[in-house]
Amino acid sequence: MNKGITGDKMLSHLDRVVGAHRPITADIFLTNYCNNRCPYCTYRRWELGKDAYAMSLKEFKEYADTLLRLGVKGFILTGGGEPTIAPDFLKIARWLERKELHYGVNSNFNALKFIRPDYLKVSLDGWDEESYERARGVRMYQQTRRNIEAYAAWKKTKSPRTSLGIQMVATSVEAVRRFYEANRDLDVDYIVFRPKESTGGKDYSTPEAMAEATEIIQAVRDLQEGDERVTLNFKWGLLGRTFERCAASWAQIAVNERGEVMYCCHKPYEIVGHVLDWNILEKKESFRTNMAACDVPCRMTAPNIFVDQVTSQMEAPRQNSCFI
Ligand SMILES: C[S@@+](CC[C@H](N)C(=O)[O-])C[C@H]1O[C@@H](n2cnc3c(N)ncnc32)[C@H](O)[C@@H]1O
Ligand code: SF4
Ligand code: SF4
Repeated sequence: MNKGITGDKMLSHLDRVVGAHRPITADIFLTNYCNNRCPYCTYRRWELGKDAYAMSLKEFKEYADTLLRLGVKGFILTGGGEPTIAPDFLKIARWLERKELHYGVNSNFNALKFIRPDYLKVSLDGWDEESYERARGVRMYQQTRRNIEAYAAWKKTKSPRTSLGIQMVATSVEAVRRFYEANRDLDVDYIVFRPKESTGGKDYSTPEAMAEATEIIQAVRDLQEGDERVTLNFKWGLLGRTFERCAASWAQIAVNERGEVMYCCHKPYEIVGHVLDWNILEKKESFRTNMAACDVPCRMTAPNIFVDQVTSQMEAPRQNSCFI
């Protein structure tokens, strides 16, 4: 089973690591608004544009065609906000499907959508209405479960290749266990536990927080013994990992609801240009991001380690390297 949540995916793109640095994945924010209010949400930390806006199908097609020309191989519909509540969400999904493009969706799935992406990852977080409300700000736990059940039944025949998962941002051992017990009956392909991402990694900066993280990792490993769907997000092994530069930044391109390119999806306030700018890749490459403001861990933690390792290996002096 390919759960798709591993840190070694860059191995599939060695040509781009050593050759022209062209983006592999596009993170697309379809909206800048949401139907949940998760206190931990990355996008609630920043003062962003207040006008609610959703990308239209027409805009999406123009951006996607441009991104394909730039080399993008897969699209992630995410946010910024909740992608499924963009008015053109279904039309956009159908367009991607008709063109047989690879796409994944990150969603709270409060709204049921019958779509055929490569993966659908539902951020569930809770085990009852109260815990859901604490994590997500609304009482939609049972509704979301019903949506997942309906989707899982539909996908059996209508989209068997879609990998369906549920996700929890794990905050304690007890929460992990309760989440698993309450949701293990769902017919999903994976159940992933992910750490909290925070500016500079401050959420895991104390010995107590690290001790708790170690216990959470063990609790997830214990669950894995009895259920192969249980997945420990690779970021748990990289909690305090910071970088001097974002060496693999070129591998992703993050586009907001207005077509603006963000340095990365963790920094929606760092706009480097517009996706339709003829020199957008050059603009991104020459942009100096503030590494002190990075989320730790982040979406690029594993790719950054990989690219740094390959680059330092390639640049290492070797005697007689022309005699193989
Ligand atoms: C920002 S949301 C956008 C898509 C959709 N609204 C959702 O909740 O799935 C994408 C994912 O980022 C996760 N996320 C947001 N802020 C986070 C943080 N500070 N640490 C870890 N995960 C976070 C959410 O739980 C969700 O799974
Ligand atoms: S549903 Fe997603 S985008 Fe909305 S607040 Fe929660 S994590 Fe953020
Ligand atoms: S937050 Fe992550 S992806 Fe963004 S610049 Fe920093 S290291 Fe790169």
